[in-house]
Amino acid sequence: VRLYENVTQEQKRLEKVKNEFIATASHDLKNPIMSISGYSDLLSKAGPLNQQQQDFVGYIQSSARNMLELVQNMLQLTEIDLQQMQERREALDAVELLEAVVNESQILAKEKGQTLEISNTKGSVQVEGDSLQVRQVYRNLIGNAIKYTPEGGKVSVSSHTQDGNLIIQIRDTGYGIPAADLPFIFDRFYRVRSGKASEIEGNGLGLAIVKSVIEKHGGQVRVESEVGTGTRFEVSLPACKPGAALNGI
Ligand SMILES: Nc1ncnc2c1ncn2[C@@H]1O[C@H](COP(=O)(O)OP(=O)(O)OP(=O)(O)O)[C@@H](O)[C@H]1O
Ligand SMILES: [Mg+2]
Repeated sequence: VRLYENVTQEQKRLEKVKNEFIATASHDLKNPIMSISGYSDLLSKAGPLNQQQQDFVGYIQSSARNMLELVQNMLQLTEIDLQQMQERREALDAVELLEAVVNESQILAKEKGQTLEISNTKGSVQVEGDSLQVRQVYRNLIGNAIKYTPEGGKVSVSSHTQDGNLIIQIRDTGYGIPAADLPFIFDRFYRVRSGKASEIEGNGLGLAIVKSVIEKHGGQVRVESEVGTGTRFEVSLPACKPGAALNGI
């Protein structure tokens, strides 16, 4: 028993060292990436550039954007692990926030000729938590739905309450996820390697963040999917009782 305890303690220590390393490295990578991104923006305006030069600058800009997103996601995950994520506990209107993210995502859907609609949202539902993190969850799920659905498809978002929980559903008519991959999609860096989805860029961190944040908020996330038909994600979050005072607020 003693030996086992030592081993797990050593594992925990190593895990912590690893996370701190990732956190520091991601953090330090941010400045140079911002500089690549900033100067390539300036370069495109410093012109006149010929078409080929313009294309090259475009590649630099989009790679810098992808790198920045990866670094931000890694940072967020290590913060969750190290429990450095700020405990901002506020009463937030989780339905209003959902509507806001749907609105800001309309432009992405439009670019792909998709319809993005929100329905069944009745009034406001208060949840105790961190609005930045919950917004990130919505962005990742709605972003995925748009990203993994072909042109002309449909993304539907809805919310309702059930047994004191707020239930949010995000459905799409996209590529779907093979049954064999479903158990792993919430793992860090896991991406589906077959079919259309594998041709789309990503790092496999979005859903890992969704799961960590939702569980930290006392909720759950579930998924159902069929290849060629579409995918449905369902998030449940404990709703505050109407009129109940929040702890610490
Ligand atoms: N709505 C969806 N429809 C089909 N496949 C999906 C959907 N959402 C997620 N997936 C699959 O699950 C995998 C993991 O998703 P996740 O959001 O974690 O990573 P990602 O989108 O690849 O990268 P990123 O870190 O930029 O979010 C994706 O690579 C994709 O194959
Ligand atoms: Mg994603």
